[in-house]
Amino acid sequence: MSLFVTFEGPDGAGKSTQTGLVAERLRSAGYPVTITREPGGTPLGERIRTVLLEPGECAIVPRAEALLMTAARAQHVVKVIQPALESGAVVLCDRYIDSTLAYQGAGRGLPIDELQELQRFAVSSCVPDLTFLLDMPAEDGLRRREDSGSPLNRLDRDGLAFHQRVQEWYRQAAPGDPERWLVIDALRSPDEIADEIAEEIIRRLRRRGVSAGANRKSE
Ligand code: TMP
Repeated sequence: MSLFVTFEGPDGAGKSTQTGLVAERLRSAGYPVTITREPGGTPLGERIRTVLLEPGECAIVPRAEALLMTAARAQHVVKVIQPALESGAVVLCDRYIDSTLAYQGAGRGLPIDELQELQRFAVSSCVPDLTFLLDMPAEDGLRRREDSGSPLNRLDRDGLAFHQRVQEWYRQAAPGDPERWLVIDALRSPDEIADEIAEEIIRRLRRRGVSAGANRKSE
């Protein structure tokens, strides 16, 4: 097993930019890397993503939203994440279980313990080794999304109060498990952030005795 790394945070915090920049750094240091994202990551997951994120696609009740996010995840774990980890790759995943707890739990108001039970059913023991919280105020993230010019998805359009509840959940969850969570100030430059994250991942890999170039099977 290599290392399963997830990126979490409010919309617009720069998670997908970071997965790309960090992957470049790890690959040039000689580590095999698989980048993936949720909801999505598999053909089924990408179809579920379209249903979930297209504005005006259909009214989705919170429990259906949680089940769809989690169904995409169950497929993702078996088809992408576990095989990549078994091949020795570092997996960089843009969102995972914590997004369901933050968005459907804190955001939509579904019971966190029931969502956690659902996650155990979906992913069994496939949990992240390391999670980076790209931390910035919810309003800054939403503003970045609006300024980016790309169309806003269904969840981006939920009100600021929804996104603030999500952000608050992340800020409370991270200190509860400091070995897994690392909080990153996402208002700094993308390169500075990527350097810090890549260094931490390499430190963890070395701690596990994984050396660069040990396995080059992955993409
Ligand atoms: P993103 O890929 O651009 O971050 O968009 C995904 C959106 O889906 C984002 O608003 C967070 C939301 N989401 C959930 O609400 N629950 C989940 O479990 C996941 C993975 C994402």
